[in-house]
Amino acid sequence: MKNIAFSFKNVSFTHSNGQEALKNINISASAGESIAIIGPSGSGKTSFLQLIATSLRPSTGSMAVFNVDPWAISKGQLQRLRSQIGLVHQAAPIPPRQRVITAVLAGRLGQWPFWKSLVSLIYPVDISGPQLCLQKLDLADRLFDRCDRLSGGQLQRVGVARVLYQKPDLLLADEPVSALDPVLSDLTIQCLLADAQTRNACFVASLHAVDIALRWFPRIIGLRDGEVFFDLPASEVSESLLQQLYAAERGVLPKQDNVNTL
Ligand SMILES: Nc1ncnc2c1ncn2[C@@H]1O[C@H](COP(=O)(O)OP(=O)(O)OP(=O)(O)O)[C@@H](O)[C@H]1O
Ligand SMILES: [Mg+2]
Repeated sequence: MKNIAFSFKNVSFTHSNGQEALKNINISASAGESIAIIGPSGSGKTSFLQLIATSLRPSTGSMAVFNVDPWAISKGQLQRLRSQIGLVHQAAPIPPRQRVITAVLAGRLGQWPFWKSLVSLIYPVDISGPQLCLQKLDLADRLFDRCDRLSGGQLQRVGVARVLYQKPDLLLADEPVSALDPVLSDLTIQCLLADAQTRNACFVASLHAVDIALRWFPRIIGLRDGEVFFDLPASEVSESLLQQLYAAERGVLPKQDNVNTL
């Protein structure tokens, strides 16, 4: 039997303002699987990733991460579980004055003893590790730069490098290449996929560009209005299904060369 990375059973989620973001989600994923989440803006991609990351708690239904219900364990156990989960945020939450190396080292704060985490904020406790991660993303020369001196796309790659350095068993990424050009987008996605494959981690990424999802991911989940519209192998995702998924976007599918103009 395959190791289940996460599973959702009849999960719904309503934001505190009453906005229902996800309805009746039934999905499970195995270790080593790579999945792309696609769907129009507001369809629930970020909310879904935040639920998997245990940043949000389901309003109804049940869920498990590595066969554990994150909402039924102690605070300490939840903290340990979260150290196995890495999330690349849609907008990287990096303090502006922080150096790139410190931002990447922060990936392991949840795994290190308190004293080491504290020291790492003042003095880099590891240099070659972060350097290697940045090198893979064509950013090695920015190791000691301040984050507020970087471009949006460079900052986005720092967020990716941080999660590569963390080496989580469950790797989540919310539109991790939205600020990158096509060449860097492919490089970054390949890097995340290779990292997850090598370590048999489960990788889930939300993507605006449909062509990137279909090019690189074996399994595609389409979300529409907070519901799973389809959950299929990439080879079975037809043009007509995509047209239905993005019906509100006037028949234009979001792709690498037009995502910013839609
Ligand atoms: N913090 C919040 N408070 C209230 N409602 C929210 C909040 N965040 C998202 N929503 C609502 O939940 C629904 C799903 O939003 P979500 O951010 O998950 O969509 P998304 O697919 O990630 O969109 P995008 O492609 O624009 O990033 C939307 O209707 C949105 O308005
Ligand atoms: Mg989003």
